Amino acid sequence: MAILNDQKPSSNGNNEIIGSSDEFVAPEINSFGQSFRDYNAESERQKGVEEFYRLNHINQTYDFVTKMREEYKKLNRVEMSIWECCELLNEVVDESDPDLDEPQIQHLLQTAEAIRKDYPNEDWLHLTALIHDLGKVLLLPKFGGLPQWAVVGDTHPLGCAFDDSIVHHKYFKDNPDSKNPAYNSKHGIYAEGCGLENVMISWGHDDYMYLVAKENATTLPEAGLFIIRYHSFYPLHKAGAYKHLMNTADEENLKWLHVFNKYDLYSKSKVQVDVETVKPYYLSLIEKYFPAKLRW
Ligand SMILES: [Fe+2]
Ligand SMILES: [Fe+2]
Repeated sequence: MAILNDQKPSSNGNNEIIGSSDEFVAPEINSFGQSFRDYNAESERQKGVEEFYRLNHINQTYDFVTKMREEYKKLNRVEMSIWECCELLNEVVDESDPDLDEPQIQHLLQTAEAIRKDYPNEDWLHLTALIHDLGKVLLLPKFGGLPQWAVVGDTHPLGCAFDDSIVHHKYFKDNPDSKNPAYNSKHGIYAEGCGLENVMISWGHDDYMYLVAKENATTLPEAGLFIIRYHSFYPLHKAGAYKHLMNTADEENLKWLHVFNKYDLYSKSKVQVDVETVKPYYLSLIEKYFPAKLRW
């Protein structure tokens, strides 16, 4: 299996177009010239990212996630198509991401096109890549204008202990859940192998887009929905934490999430996809797996 395609970031700042058939070598630097996800690197964004996680870790509580799920399950804010949402996402900036300085639609299309090249027959996976970040519209006023800490960044479970692998873990000391004996043991309120669908995960664009897809009766396979819902759950898919909460279906779906995540991370480079060229293909996938208009 080729890992990706030929998206080496160019050091002279020129934009390259995806299209050659050479096997991909994952780029070692991002668009700021640093290693991917290097939270310790001295960078202009470092302090901002750390402050972001401080707020995230203090404010994401079990009660908060419960309220957000109830509120957004109403889907009473906007009616629009998947493609309209892709275009809308260009108005959004993700402050938590130390790698990303491109319009969001480029990130979506870069990820999707890179996967399409290596997995040409898995059309559901191409579409999953295209839509995986659409939940970031939560930052926009008509979707509630949520703060960054409630929309983006890595996610983690609530209702059980915060694993040491979670980035900037020290800030959990000011989260009220860490003092609650019901929530601060390894299993907390959960039984071994209970399945991730029964676990509260910190609220953000993953869980919101999962909700939108599910409630609008998408025909995407379970693995696609799993990728959308857990792609920011780095403690699980990168560090291997919280596996005691997974069931056998989760184990299967996690294999696809590992495939997806390589592309999500390494496609954030100075590689431009020509939107008009690929648009007809993605519109055909949207038509196959989603209704023409969705409730958001
Ligand atoms: Fe994301
Ligand atoms: Fe992404």
